[in-house]
Amino acid sequence: MTEKIIIDTDPGIDDAFAIFYALRSSEIEVLGLTTVYGNAPIAQTTHNALALVERAGVACPVARGAEGPLEIECRPYPAMVHGEDGMGGVSPATVSGSVVEEHAVDFIIQAARANPGDVTLVPIGPLTNIALALQKEPDLPKLIKRVVLMGGAANANGNVTPAAEANIIDDPEAAEIVFAADWEVAMLGLDATHDVKLTRERVAVLAEKGGDLGAFLQQASAQYFAFHQDVVGLDFCHFHDPSALIYCVRPQFFSAQASSVRVVTQGFAAGKTIAKPNTRFTAQDGWDNRARVEVCLSADGPAVLDHYLHVMSAG
Ligand code: RIB
Ligand code: CA
Repeated sequence: MTEKIIIDTDPGIDDAFAIFYALRSSEIEVLGLTTVYGNAPIAQTTHNALALVERAGVACPVARGAEGPLEIECRPYPAMVHGEDGMGGVSPATVSGSVVEEHAVDFIIQAARANPGDVTLVPIGPLTNIALALQKEPDLPKLIKRVVLMGGAANANGNVTPAAEANIIDDPEAAEIVFAADWEVAMLGLDATHDVKLTRERVAVLAEKGGDLGAFLQQASAQYFAFHQDVVGLDFCHFHDPSALIYCVRPQFFSAQASSVRVVTQGFAAGKTIAKPNTRFTAQDGWDNRARVEVCLSADGPAVLDHYLHVMSAG
């Protein structure tokens, strides 16, 4: 049975790896892409989403979403990581497609109502659209099958501050709304994605066996590798967003702990996701009646990467 999903995305180089995988997988039906600011401004991330769908040669709706966070000031865009164009400098100047009329939030709500209990939401950027959808349609948790998101860090350090991962710190209030809702969530945070180490050698194989999409990803990721090498001091890069898509169909590649998750929204630790395993007692209020979260704590990195290459090479 194919997994019906909507990818909420801020393409973004690792978003591109994730989106091509989902569009290529025979196990996934992508109902649409909803765009959000994050790795670049909303106009650029939306342009990039349209360009990725066009390059993949598929008919996949793209709905434009939020241009900024619910409450905080929009953080500076990470051009040093994803490039000014959000795609490592290789985003095409023009695209042939255009967005659908509906705002991303309405697209999500309408798809959930049309497929009650069948749609998995896969946010791989800031959670603003998802929080807005919850506010507009309070019954959304009853209509959505589950949420599989890339974001957060339970025990690992953050990647923007020592406390916070990028997708969460971009809109901590939105993240808290998502983790407080009454639904099933899988959190692919840095604890797991740091175990998935994409090397230039693997990308070279992808470029050879993955056709035009593989070749494009090699071009787009040159800057991503350079950032990891020059700034982070790593000779590989972390496979963040694709790990969330792969979790949807290969959860066995990940180990997870059933938990509640709360988000720090103020102060120097803003954007920190704090996980309380269901097996741990606390007298502190505020941990009950929240999302039932599978917090992924590790991943079988080689298995994830081998699977990714297998799907991308399948033509
Ligand atoms: O922390 C990694 C996340 O932030 C990924 O989704 C990446 O695309 C950026 O959005
Ligand atoms: Ca992303």
